[in-house]
Amino acid sequence: MEELLQKLIIKNRELTQKGEVASYIPALAKANPQNLGICVTDLDGNIYKAGDYDKKFTLQSISKTISLMLALMDNGEEKVFERVGMEPTGDPFNSIVKLETIRPSKPLNPMINAGAIAVTSMIKGENADEKFERLLNLFRKITGNKELEIDSEIYLSEKKTGDRNRAMAYFMRDVGIIEGNVEEILDVYFRQCSIKVDCIDIAKIGLFLANKGVVPDTKEKITTEHIARVVKTFMVTCGMYNASGEFAIKVGIPAKSGVGGGILGVVPHKMGIGVYGPALDKKGNSIGGYGVLRDLSNELNLSIF
Ligand code: DON
Repeated sequence: MEELLQKLIIKNRELTQKGEVASYIPALAKANPQNLGICVTDLDGNIYKAGDYDKKFTLQSISKTISLMLALMDNGEEKVFERVGMEPTGDPFNSIVKLETIRPSKPLNPMINAGAIAVTSMIKGENADEKFERLLNLFRKITGNKELEIDSEIYLSEKKTGDRNRAMAYFMRDVGIIEGNVEEILDVYFRQCSIKVDCIDIAKIGLFLANKGVVPDTKEKITTEHIARVVKTFMVTCGMYNASGEFAIKVGIPAKSGVGGGILGVVPHKMGIGVYGPALDKKGNSIGGYGVLRDLSNELNLSIF
């Protein structure tokens, strides 16, 4: 397996030249666009790695899977989906346009920025610190990595420049989708996006979802099978944004990308996959990571469809 992974990294590293690292969050622009790595872990306890699998990057939108899980555990499905929809948008992840035009006014799904900010606003806790600690602890349990922390430089960089998210959050408070202190809600959101991980951590998140909400190493049941299924389904329909349809055809596994360059992949009942390549395609997905996942899925026949 590691030989295959190495081969796929070498093949797809060329693709990275066609992408660009994200720069709208200034600190993300420091990443090395040539980096490409993968980790695959399975329910038999194997961990396979290749390329730049140990390079650190920030979760960014990958965090939206577990924040959704926590909001569903805290509030129940009915309350969460009163405020955020279940449909793909066909628009970029940070698009504002449908917030005002859709009636009743609510973000279309929890994977786009607006929807994820609404979801984060529903995480329970006395204050921003407590809310974030609850979320971070979940990530630590799921990955088995107790050292997980935020990357302060990237967190502060996004907090300083994240005016589009700020605009959407204030708009959503105006129309009653979110309540409370907008800056505090955004602070939790910016922190969750800045959690620093590597491909192994991401693969473990994938394996936890593949294992229906139970951490395979500790046997701890973190969430219900149903919530794990809801999260995986959103990954299929909205996880790669306006590339989700094409990704479902070419790769065919639940996946969630982040502008830090990571992609979380889940092969239900079998595998968790973490990929990293900060050079992104035009839709904000890792260009090399997409290629590696496509080839891996073809080689091992992983499509769920
Ligand atoms: O809110 C943002 O724009 C970033 N913190 C996360 C966006 C993201 O990762 C989109 N993914 N491809």
